[in-house]
Amino acid sequence: MQQLIDILTDEMGKAFAAAGYDASMGKVTVSQRPDLCEFQCNGAMAGAKQYHKAPFMIADDVAAALADSAVFSSVSVVKPGFINLDVNDSFLAGYLEAMRTEDKFGMETSAPRCVILDYGGPNVAKPLHVGHLRSAVIGEAIKRIVRYHGDKAIGDIHLGDWGLQMGLVITELQERQPDLPYFDDAYTGEYPAEPPFTVADLEEIYPFASARSKEDKEYYARALENTHLLQEGKRGLRALWQHIINVSVSDMKRNYQNLAVEFDLWNGESTVNDVIPGMVEKMKEDGFAYLSDGALVVDVAEETDTKELPPCMILKSDGAALYTTTDLATLDEREKLYHPDEIIYITDKRQELHFKQVFRAARKCGLVAENVKLRHIGFGTVNGADGKPFKTRDGGVMRLETLISDINSAMAEKIRSNPDIPEEEAVKTASQVALAAIKYGDLSNQASKDYIFDIEKFTSFEGNTGPYILYTIVRIKSILSRYEKEGGKAADTLMVGAPSGESEKALMLSLSAFGGMMQNAYEECAPHRICAYIYEVANNFNSFYHANRILTEEDPARREKWIALLALTKRILETCIDVLGFEAPDRM
Ligand code: ARG
Repeated sequence: MQQLIDILTDEMGKAFAAAGYDASMGKVTVSQRPDLCEFQCNGAMAGAKQYHKAPFMIADDVAAALADSAVFSSVSVVKPGFINLDVNDSFLAGYLEAMRTEDKFGMETSAPRCVILDYGGPNVAKPLHVGHLRSAVIGEAIKRIVRYHGDKAIGDIHLGDWGLQMGLVITELQERQPDLPYFDDAYTGEYPAEPPFTVADLEEIYPFASARSKEDKEYYARALENTHLLQEGKRGLRALWQHIINVSVSDMKRNYQNLAVEFDLWNGESTVNDVIPGMVEKMKEDGFAYLSDGALVVDVAEETDTKELPPCMILKSDGAALYTTTDLATLDEREKLYHPDEIIYITDKRQELHFKQVFRAARKCGLVAENVKLRHIGFGTVNGADGKPFKTRDGGVMRLETLISDINSAMAEKIRSNPDIPEEEAVKTASQVALAAIKYGDLSNQASKDYIFDIEKFTSFEGNTGPYILYTIVRIKSILSRYEKEGGKAADTLMVGAPSGESEKALMLSLSAFGGMMQNAYEECAPHRICAYIYEVANNFNSFYHANRILTEEDPARREKWIALLALTKRILETCIDVLGFEAPDRM
């Protein structure tokens, strides 16, 4: 279905042509002065030069050509030559009525593509902390935007499971339990099925080992050695490593589930270990990789660079693989397995240089087809009220789990203040609303920007927050259910006839913008656009709600139309929050 703004542009274009001007001058945009008009067209301004005429004369000609327009209800020329436009009420109602019955509200889609989303990216053996929130929340939303658009979207968590942190944990386990069979080179039997540690042990071991490695050179060297032996495939270390993965991953799964974040693939850096040798060999054969100070590198600088881009390191001088190596091998494998049209990485923006090097090296060495789009979405930091990275009260790293449960309890308290809601429902509703508070609080900020994690603000039922959006949906649900209790059928109501007031029309106009908004969010990978949109829809709905008595409206035709409008508003809001990755309760 054509977007409303495009229909308006076509209508203007025709009027320009009918008046003897170039139709391309008819571009319509949303008004920057909503107090004056709904839309505007500035084409006559640009025509002045071409036609040697004052812009307002051109605009007058165009306005005259629109005298009988069924699309515009008002066309007024403002000097020096702007054209202010209002949409015809019945035309708008007809447009929404058509949207209502179309799949995806008539959003235009293109041929489906295959998109891989690389997000989450936690490192095994370390607990998830607040820093992991953004990748998970933004990545999940972008995956859903892509999927809603009709593409095949594959979400891959890309675990950090192959680096020094594994060697550190193994080394510390060896210190504490040297008699384990994993460390006995002579052992040839099967290794125990049960891990020799719990997730709580792991969480204590990693920071301990990491701190010790910074002070104890010999210990650090052993950790490096163990990392290397692991990567080379030493049997006992592999078995122990598998235990670390299993224990850590099942804990992660629980955490991500609480965030309603789902991955299709639980691959990691280790997945491509066997791909690395062949890839490196080929890079050497093709003359792209060469030795520099003992390390193997690929040049990635380009003539047009304004800043110097250092070569991309492929292997360290001791032959060990690096973060870049596993990323390149992963690209190689993804290309072969999925032939993606695009791969999107969602990480901290401080990894920008890394991805620039990886993308360039991958293209240069032909690891991905030329038409594959590689995109890095770098996000900013989650800060506390002091503007510094978010910490616990005593200055420690905030665990993701703690953060979620803090917000859950704050929310439960609010929900319990509604005496109609039984305890069991209150707990469930609180976690739904808490999730909306966290996700909306994050997603409503443009990803690249830092933001302040303000629990007080995020959990408020008023203002630009997740709970406010949910509250609006709950309000609509309650009106619709009362309507049905009184014998009506919301699904049967039609949206015909002109709006009865300003707030109703404003709501209708904002609903009509859904398709264009989703398209933008898709092209820009920008969940914040959806947040801004639903905030506007919610505000317009609430103004409409306060201006009218919907269920007690006496004119039955008008009441029916309003119910249809509410039903559409609800469906659009619910679709949007589903794409953002959260849902609304029935009451709160
Ligand atoms: N594990 C990495 C980190 O903690 C993030 C991984 C992001 N994805 C990727 N393909 N490099 O920084």
